[in-house]
Amino acid sequence: RGGSTLSSATTTVLNSAVASEETAAPVEIFRKDYEPLPHLVEKINMLFSIEEGKTIVTTELFIEPNESYNGKSRDLTLDGDETCVKLLALSLNGKDLEEGTDYTLAPGKLILKNPPAGAVLKTVVEIVPEDNTQLSGLYKDGPMYCTQCEAMGFRRITYYPDRPDNMAVFENVRLEADKEAYPVLLANGNMIDSGDLGDGRHYATWTDPYPKPSYLFCCVVGDLGKIHDTYTTMSGRKVDLQVFSESHNVHKLDYAMESLKNSMKWDEDRFGLEYDLDLYNIVAVDSFNMGAMENKGLNVFNTAYVLADKDTATDSDFERVEGVIGHEYFHNWTGNRVTCRDWFQLTLKEGLTVFRDQEFSGDMNSKAVNRIENVRGLRAGQFREDAGPMSHPIRPDSYISMDNFYTATVYSKGAEIIRMYQTLLSVEGFRKGMDLYFERHDGSAVTCDDFLSAMSDATGVDLSQFALWYSTNGTPVVTYDTKYEDGTFVLTLTQKSNSDKPLHIPISVGLLNKETGEEAVATKVLDLKEMTQEFKFEGLKGDVVPSILREFSAPVKLLPASGEEDEEALAFLAARDTDGFNKWEAGQKLFTSLIFQAKDAEMTDKTYDFAKEAFGRTLTDKESKDYSILAYALILPSEGTLGELVDVVDPIAIHKARGAVKKRLAREFATELKERYDELTAAMEGSEFKVDAESIGMRRLRNVCLEYLCSIRETPEEQKTAAELAMSHFKKASGMTDKVAALGALASMDGEGASARDEALETFYKDADGDALVLNKWFSLQAMADLPDILDRVKKLKEHPDFTLKNPNRCRSLIGAFAMNTAFHEESGAGYAFLREILEDLDQLNPQISSRMAGSLIQWKKYDEKRGQIMKAELQKLADMKPISDDLFEIVSRGLK
Ligand code: ARG
Ligand code: ZN
Repeated sequence: RGGSTLSSATTTVLNSAVASEETAAPVEIFRKDYEPLPHLVEKINMLFSIEEGKTIVTTELFIEPNESYNGKSRDLTLDGDETCVKLLALSLNGKDLEEGTDYTLAPGKLILKNPPAGAVLKTVVEIVPEDNTQLSGLYKDGPMYCTQCEAMGFRRITYYPDRPDNMAVFENVRLEADKEAYPVLLANGNMIDSGDLGDGRHYATWTDPYPKPSYLFCCVVGDLGKIHDTYTTMSGRKVDLQVFSESHNVHKLDYAMESLKNSMKWDEDRFGLEYDLDLYNIVAVDSFNMGAMENKGLNVFNTAYVLADKDTATDSDFERVEGVIGHEYFHNWTGNRVTCRDWFQLTLKEGLTVFRDQEFSGDMNSKAVNRIENVRGLRAGQFREDAGPMSHPIRPDSYISMDNFYTATVYSKGAEIIRMYQTLLSVEGFRKGMDLYFERHDGSAVTCDDFLSAMSDATGVDLSQFALWYSTNGTPVVTYDTKYEDGTFVLTLTQKSNSDKPLHIPISVGLLNKETGEEAVATKVLDLKEMTQEFKFEGLKGDVVPSILREFSAPVKLLPASGEEDEEALAFLAARDTDGFNKWEAGQKLFTSLIFQAKDAEMTDKTYDFAKEAFGRTLTDKESKDYSILAYALILPSEGTLGELVDVVDPIAIHKARGAVKKRLAREFATELKERYDELTAAMEGSEFKVDAESIGMRRLRNVCLEYLCSIRETPEEQKTAAELAMSHFKKASGMTDKVAALGALASMDGEGASARDEALETFYKDADGDALVLNKWFSLQAMADLPDILDRVKKLKEHPDFTLKNPNRCRSLIGAFAMNTAFHEESGAGYAFLREILEDLDQLNPQISSRMAGSLIQWKKYDEKRGQIMKAELQKLADMKPISDDLFEIVSRGLK
């Protein structure tokens, strides 16, 4: 069917009565209420006629009865956001429909009465992308129009069964726009037709042979530059790869292209999964609510996760680009070919795809470094979420706004659950399960239970107890007790979680001989399936030190049953553990003990000596070329992670205590730190700039040394020395990584360092030359600084001409960064009030972002009484706000409970 049958006309607005009714009260949706649709749209044609200030969307929906429906209703509910979509015309099989008899309208929906089999429903709607500040649906960003439809953006484009279990072929998607202003016209799949319309406008028609849910729909219309490459798949098919961005950023696209090709190869090698279209397009947009979106054949990326070159991106930015490019590519199978039946199953695609991108990054770089980075992230973000009012199982039971459930829990904890399958079933077993999953479910919309069944059936392993991970919220705690007698070591593990029944937890354990440090028992996976279980290791030649939860084999908190960490054992493991992750972990635990001692009373000599030994050994380790591992072993646990370990958080006390340990170690090792710093400087000088594991590691280690050295700033003399060092680091920076490290140190300097600070900030701003991503760094480094008047500075920056609430990245870079600063928790509560005021404005513009940022206020129960009460009062003010978005309402009301 040609797109030409779709022509647009008409002026009366059919749904204006619904749109002007008062906004509907928030509704909670429950997983248990899932019901299949009585009818399915099996095919759709669309026409977008884009004009300045108005876009007309005409669709044809081909409707058939749904065979798997066995309920009573014969009606089909189409979702449509009447605050965004004006309904202009509606006809069925060529006949105009009558409201009341043929269909009814209600807020958010249009109910079509009893459509016959083979019905073709035609709709014409008008939307205004230029006014769409929510960035959901079709919106305008700079020189382009683009769409974001996950989770429920398609209903902001047209009326449609906007749920993932309606998979349809988007057969003809025709885009029409001004040719000069918008030369590029993209949609999912392959382009089948294009040409001029006369009158200065042009069109392109796209088709996507793979049935897909509406959340994977995408079109982009704009003035864009691009790079092109090809990839030949394992079966010998040539695929065209294109990455688009605004022309001035095209030189920053090469790393993304490289990462895309690596992802395609990796998925073939590891999972036998091949790309299935002839074209793969990626588009970079500046204003984007999330990281990126896996639309079939047409990924859309937040510029922050696709643009990278050495002068504007840090090493971590490069790592993220690689990871997110991989993530979206891997969705083509885990998400697109096999999708979710309903949104409660989100972790089916997100947990699995995060796991896949982590494995990919681990293979491309270093497995151990990757694991450390991911666990650091999990603890700081997910553990915290799971301990607060937004705590939910990876498969939630209800939501008001689904966008609030794109969480660290669904994503990162979800990935840990997938990792546990692999740990329990082995890499080969896991692969068998994946193969069976695709064999059974390719082309359909399924549930987490279907995934578990595939894993279990493919391997013959009973996973019924493991299934509890899907329904249990909170971070489980595993405690351990040990006993050694006559060559037998007994490890007793006890679990505690929010589940009444015990979880099935894989605990990887290795034993090291206490005398020799040799591995007495290599890593073994213990199946902890009872509340308390004893594991015996016999025939040992001498006492051992256990290394438990190797590679962080389960997302739990591991604690000694006695409540007291055995510091001697930790020091031993920090020096000798053969498991890279646990070696790092042991050092972190020593630092943690020391920081809490500093907070509650004074550091003890014993703990300090252990920490000092571990720190000194790492710093002077000249054997290891694993510089990133050395760097991470020197970094103290973050304030967020530390806060997770206590019942009542006093953020300022934690900040001070951590600072005290940092400064003491810095003074103790000032000479060695400077030696290492100089050595690395010399080693890097004259060598070509590279973004590989070794170069990244060297920069990382050198920047850690810089940070410690710059923390010595008591006397004016010391302030001068620190400022000079940081300034020379800044001036000689080989790329953005070093620049950011230097400016990060300088931004917190005062006294004798103040002028260097101001100078560097000014230079950085000038050098940015308007580059959006660099300016984001400039804002966030200042918002994260450790200075007494930080709130005033942030308030001033909010008035800066480059600041805007409309761009989510910019908003996060200043406001989001400030909410992470200790200064946010300043005793008067001025920081909380400042955030609340911003949220009041932001919620009118972009509810997804306002509700995200409100996350910083809902943790009030974790803080001391005084702070907690002020935070709560600010939350209450938000709750009383009218109007308030569903998104923010959900977060705020959960926060107040
Ligand atoms: N599926 C996207 C991903 O790759 C996330 C998009 C979510 N967007 C949203 N507005 N909730 O993870
Ligand atoms: Zn994803």
